[in-house]
Amino acid sequence: MTVAPDGSPVEVYERLPELGEAGYVAQIVAPPASLLELGCGTGRVTAQLAAAGYAVTAVDESSDMLARVRGAETVCAPIEGLELGRRFDAVLLFSNLLTVETEQRRAFLDTCARHSSLLVVETLPLAWEPREGESRIGDIVSRLRIAAVEAGVVHGAVDYEVGGRTWTHEFAMRVFADEAELEYALAEGGWRLERWLDRDGGWFVATTG
Ligand SMILES: C[S@@+](CC[C@H](N)C(=O)[O-])C[C@H]1O[C@@H](n2cnc3c(N)ncnc32)[C@H](O)[C@@H]1O
Repeated sequence: MTVAPDGSPVEVYERLPELGEAGYVAQIVAPPASLLELGCGTGRVTAQLAAAGYAVTAVDESSDMLARVRGAETVCAPIEGLELGRRFDAVLLFSNLLTVETEQRRAFLDTCARHSSLLVVETLPLAWEPREGESRIGDIVSRLRIAAVEAGVVHGAVDYEVGGRTWTHEFAMRVFADEAELEYALAEGGWRLERWLDRDGGWFVATTG
């Protein structure tokens, strides 16, 4: 199994089906808006956005992930410190990237602010309580294991099973206890929670200024 630096298994993400992510973006900006998608992986969401007519620039630090992206300009780089020298109609920060530790989260939010004043986020729901167990999406079986929950950070692992092969992705994810905690974290990066698109699903829009 090929793995990105953050532990994400490439073959899992290239098999993960579309889950309607572009529909959230369409509630905020219409095609042909320019979008900066951070942590695009294999381009699962990128493909949906490109098909809808958006001009997408897709960023990931894994060249193995990026090699699978279609229909977008690609940039292989860490999100932290990224400076493309141009602005976009919106920046997309999906896949729980907001749950990283404080310093990295600030760096992510700084990058977002350097590139747009509109941010669409998918993250864990507020006060998320992990439940161990097995689930299936498409032909991927995943088993969630929790090791500990300490000071608002969930430590655990997901065992993925794809076509007879398995891969374990260990993680540590910060869970925002309530809206005030989320707003504080956003404000550190110069962002303000504008509105929820799907509160239970962890989708929201933030703006600067
Ligand atoms: C969980 S995967 C999700 C991929 C895609 N957003 C999706 O939903 O299918 C997270 C992706 O973010 C990328 N990533 C994580 N941290 C990153 C960083 N600091 N800089 C650039 N890419 C990063 C990983 O390489 C991986 O491809």
